[in-house]
Amino acid sequence: MAGVIAIDGPAGAGKSTLSRLLARELGYRHLDTGAMYRAITWLAIERGIDLNNEEALTELARETEIKFLPADSNGVCPIIVNGQDLTNEIRKPLVNKYVSLVARIEGVREVMVKLQRKMAEEGEIIIDGRDIGSRVVPNADLKLFITASLEERARRRFNELKEKNLDLKFKEVREEIARRDKIDSEREVSPLVRVEDALLIDTTDLSIEEVVKKIKTIIDKGESNG
Ligand code: CDP
Repeated sequence: MAGVIAIDGPAGAGKSTLSRLLARELGYRHLDTGAMYRAITWLAIERGIDLNNEEALTELARETEIKFLPADSNGVCPIIVNGQDLTNEIRKPLVNKYVSLVARIEGVREVMVKLQRKMAEEGEIIIDGRDIGSRVVPNADLKLFITASLEERARRRFNELKEKNLDLKFKEVREEIARRDKIDSEREVSPLVRVEDALLIDTTDLSIEEVVKKIKTIIDKGESNG
């Protein structure tokens, strides 16, 4: 699929930041699919929907309108849900805690994947998530699997939350990430996996700039190889 870059990987691996920077460098759009599952989770909590009720959550996903605005000056594409900007709400700890439960539900995923494929149709897009290379766009031009050690991913997420003045303990953040990874990797529908044709990039000892540089080299080489 021309001009489509699929980025998968576990929580806190740096996919979102990396996708934002790469999109800016390449002049591509960025689709953060995690934001969509987060949005449904936020709405479900807000409306008091039982997170084990697959039917109710699937219905919620079906009736929810999700749109992204063009990137702001930080490269973030605001997410508009039923006309409301939820960009900040969906990053709250309560959503972190429950999002993987909602993302397990096939009915919810079907609705989201359909929307994601539609957004990918025009090309020139970087899509990040868990099942992008395996399910959403298996014919993407380039597939990357971005990871880092659990300790490093937890450290990054901890610093991010600290910047937002959220008072969490490092140990709690690490446990939360490990728990979410486990659910995401072991679920029955579209689990987090590295597909065979995805390039593995371990960012444990790399800065974000180094990762961007590395990927740009891969893209340039691919192009020159024709
Ligand atoms: O930013 P972080 O890596 O912590 O999470 P995210 O990319 O915003 O994704 C949040 C959650 O949504 C993940 O833990 C998955 O449970 C789910 N997700 C998914 O199942 N499939 C996707 N394509 C993207 C996210």
